[in-house]
Amino acid sequence: MEVLMLGFALFSLCGAADLPNFVLLFADDLGYGDLGSSGHPTSLTPNLDRLVAHGLRFTDFYSTSPVCSPSRLGGLPLNETTIAEVLKPLGYTTAMIGKWHLGYGANGTYLPTRQGFDHYLGIPYSHDMGPCHNLTCFPPYVKCYGFCDVGTVTVPLMDGEAITQQPVDFIHLEDAYSTFATEFIRSAAQKRQPFFLYYPSHHTHYPQYAGWKSVGRSLRGPFGDALLEFDFTVGDILKTLKDTGVLSNTLVFFTADNGPELMRMSRGGNSGLLKCGKGTTYEGGMREPAFAYWSGVIKAGVTHSLASTLDILPTFAKLAGAPLPTVQLDGVDMIDILFNHGAGQRKAMFYYPVDPSEKFGVFAVRMGKYKAHYYTRGSAQSETTPDQDCRVISPLKYHDPPLLFDLESDPAENYNLSLKDHPELVSVLQDINNLKDEFQASMQFGQSEIGKGTDPNLAPCCKPHCSPKPECCQCGTAG
Ligand SMILES: *[C@@H]1O[C@H](CO)[C@@H](O)[C@H](O)[C@H]1NC(C)=O
Ligand SMILES: *[C@@H]1O[C@H](CO)[C@@H](O)[C@H](O)[C@H]1NC(C)=O
Ligand SMILES: *[C@@H]1O[C@H](CO)[C@@H](O)[C@H](O)[C@H]1NC(C)=O
Ligand SMILES: *[C@@H]1O[C@H](CO)[C@@H](O)[C@H](O)[C@H]1NC(C)=O
Repeated sequence: MEVLMLGFALFSLCGAADLPNFVLLFADDLGYGDLGSSGHPTSLTPNLDRLVAHGLRFTDFYSTSPVCSPSRLGGLPLNETTIAEVLKPLGYTTAMIGKWHLGYGANGTYLPTRQGFDHYLGIPYSHDMGPCHNLTCFPPYVKCYGFCDVGTVTVPLMDGEAITQQPVDFIHLEDAYSTFATEFIRSAAQKRQPFFLYYPSHHTHYPQYAGWKSVGRSLRGPFGDALLEFDFTVGDILKTLKDTGVLSNTLVFFTADNGPELMRMSRGGNSGLLKCGKGTTYEGGMREPAFAYWSGVIKAGVTHSLASTLDILPTFAKLAGAPLPTVQLDGVDMIDILFNHGAGQRKAMFYYPVDPSEKFGVFAVRMGKYKAHYYTRGSAQSETTPDQDCRVISPLKYHDPPLLFDLESDPAENYNLSLKDHPELVSVLQDINNLKDEFQASMQFGQSEIGKGTDPNLAPCCKPHCSPKPECCQCGTAG
């Protein structure tokens, strides 16, 4: 009750004509230990660090999955409700810059413009999903590091539903994003229209690189440069919020889609003290850096409350006073955490593998500070670390009794708790088992829409009728 009242007090302060703005920043394959503020010695993230210092930092924030697609989804069914669609009926203007990766579809059926975004500038999927081209601006030109897709069209730049460049000029892409975001905020502020800006970056996904402003500027190499370039755009967005006078009415939320891709070795990210990374259901696969920043409204600090990307939609909806979509949501709002630094409503987190199935169900469950692993498996994406458990050679293993960790005293999941030594944990484990059964009973497996777009004629091409494809799909790029 206290929580709700605080929430409502906030709304009445803002008034119906002055709905809060939302900026959602989403990094790619970024690990728990990757930010300067997470203690990484050579990352250079001055803007993110400043927001963390003046915002509320989450220590126990989870993405929905150890790979990006469920965080972003993939061929997102049109009948699902996005945050943009939740906010639009209230008069919000909505924009997205960056990497969509929720489907393209015939005639752009799945683009952001069909999912509630008024404006969109970005690449429709990952930048390794096309033939490699130059990702460095200075000689010696380095093409891709490792492998990118071959035989496909080059990655296009979309403005709304139109391809304006193919291949996209990656060296200047971040400048284009920054300009687009800045103009969007200025225009909304001028019209006094509430706005939602979603910026899912292709940084720091493989192949790591940075444009002209950031290349070679960090001590950390290509990953650090990529992160710095993302950080520059964050800085530009923040400066614009301030310059246009809307900073104190804007909630900025930052997190990432999943843990670091350790197989890229020193070019991949780092999960800090957490075990393993992308592709695994250990903490390093899903626990992410996250913070909320709202100048003058959210008190700076640190929260150890459980929270997840699942909770962002209910939180934004509540703050805007928007009705929730009439579906069974897995998220709960974070109002108590944000405004009271309270414990929040989330009691548990469920960890599904990269290939969820009804046969195996959830691999692990966190309830409070305890995490039980029913299944574990290494991943090619967490290859090359010294920890064998992370590697692809560690096959699917069923644990009965489950591996049990106290994540408060042992966040690195090093010490499996023995029920013999801790008889009081027998009932804890029973509670976790019950929670798991209850959750799984309520889980409906849907049909993925991925795979419907494998027809090469449906590949994004700026000259739809040209030949021979894919080479002829080239527009708007000099050189
Ligand atoms: C969307 O449509 C699919 C296929 O018709 C259906 O299975 C699913 O339940 C629908 N989802 C929502 C949120 O309505
Ligand atoms: C795409 O649009 C074209 C032209 O409007 C139309 O002829 C074609 O049938 C559409 N394809 C699909 C799969 O909707
Ligand atoms: C791309 O790299 C090649 C060398 O691999 C170089 O000759 C060419 O000029 C580069 N193109 C651009 C646009 O930088
Ligand atoms: C974890 O601890 C339990 C005791 O509660 C034990 O039965 C199990 O063998 C241990 N598992 C591993 C992999 O060490």
